[in-house]
Amino acid sequence: MKLARRLDRLPPYLFVEVNRRIAELRAKGKDVIDFGIGDPDLPTPSHIIERLCRAAHDPANHRYPETDGLPELRRTIAEWYKKRFGATLNPAKEVLPLVGSKEGIGHMALCFIEPGDLALVPDPGYPPFSLGTILAGGEPYSMPLKEENDFLPDFEAIPGDIADRARLMWLNYPNNPTGAIADLGFFEKAVHFARRHSLAICHDAPYTEVTFDGYRAPSFMQTPGAKDVGVEFHSLSKTYHMTGWRIGMVVGNTDMVNALSRVKSNLDSGVPQAIQYAAVEALRGSQEHIAKHNVVFQRRRDKLVTVLNEVGLKARMPKATFYVWAKIPPDYTSMEFAKKLLDEVAIAVTPGTGYGKEGEGYIRFSLTISDDRLEEGVNRLSSWHWRRR
Ligand SMILES: Cc1ncc(COP(=O)(O)O)c(C=O)c1O
Repeated sequence: MKLARRLDRLPPYLFVEVNRRIAELRAKGKDVIDFGIGDPDLPTPSHIIERLCRAAHDPANHRYPETDGLPELRRTIAEWYKKRFGATLNPAKEVLPLVGSKEGIGHMALCFIEPGDLALVPDPGYPPFSLGTILAGGEPYSMPLKEENDFLPDFEAIPGDIADRARLMWLNYPNNPTGAIADLGFFEKAVHFARRHSLAICHDAPYTEVTFDGYRAPSFMQTPGAKDVGVEFHSLSKTYHMTGWRIGMVVGNTDMVNALSRVKSNLDSGVPQAIQYAAVEALRGSQEHIAKHNVVFQRRRDKLVTVLNEVGLKARMPKATFYVWAKIPPDYTSMEFAKKLLDEVAIAVTPGTGYGKEGEGYIRFSLTISDDRLEEGVNRLSSWHWRRR
């Protein structure tokens, strides 16, 4: 048996060592608190589950779905974008449901990247942006997200010949892992840059509804000219706590949506229809739970960020996402520090280098663990005297 060489190009899975250590500690009876996983602990709202159950009983939904999704779902997504962001989308040509946004992100690379082509990716960044590029035979080119630039890429720092060679640029705000946000002025600059260098923009926006302190995140689709150069990926995972149901969407540029639909129609058979009906209910039904869930995440954020700063791990108070990006002392690598946290106080976090080399010097905490576990974690951190060891 001979596996394809493209698999050798995938970087080693960095968390293997941390995961092995977690398993070892747990086997010894240690109570490990896992701040690593970005998967909401709160359940999917019950009206959505009820719609899913009704749809699951209907034999019409037991058959293959259409790759392009139910027309009713595409219309509902367009209506949601109009209501939430004031953005106009043609449901027939500018909207496509996905089996979770990660699926569409991975497949979009196949639409643009030929062997040797470049894609501009944020560093640190959500790994599928670069891994999709690598699997398509291309090369990810890092756009560093520096704290002094509020974790926004500096377009002017990208060499002109690199920008001209790049086919795609990936952006993601509100941002995983840094929790940073972007405004419409930034998106306008991105559109201008894309036009100048004839590249396509993929903006990934699954966290626009996970926001705090009254902040409302914009959509890339609100930017003049966005649809000429790009698309936006969105998801029901984080807004409606539907990570397990797998449904997301891509919206925007007709040619890009159509290209992705062509790839997908040959590789998958779309989102199970009962889940599509659940998504219609989620987007059209009561949105009350969103504010309630955000209150929970905001309370957790306040507790964690306060304690991190007290113990000398500098972290900003993020206005969105359920991630806290904390700066570690310079005498450790992010992997060493993650291991130290695990060994000394049984707290698991994600080392920043899991998101790219610019993630060195940081660790990521996720707020998606129950209140009592978070409380216990925060207590352990506040009585931890790491400096003196
Ligand atoms: C930035 C970003 N994009 C996309 C996703 C994937 O979302 P989905 O569940 O829709 O595949 C995640 C999940 O963690 C994410 O952080």
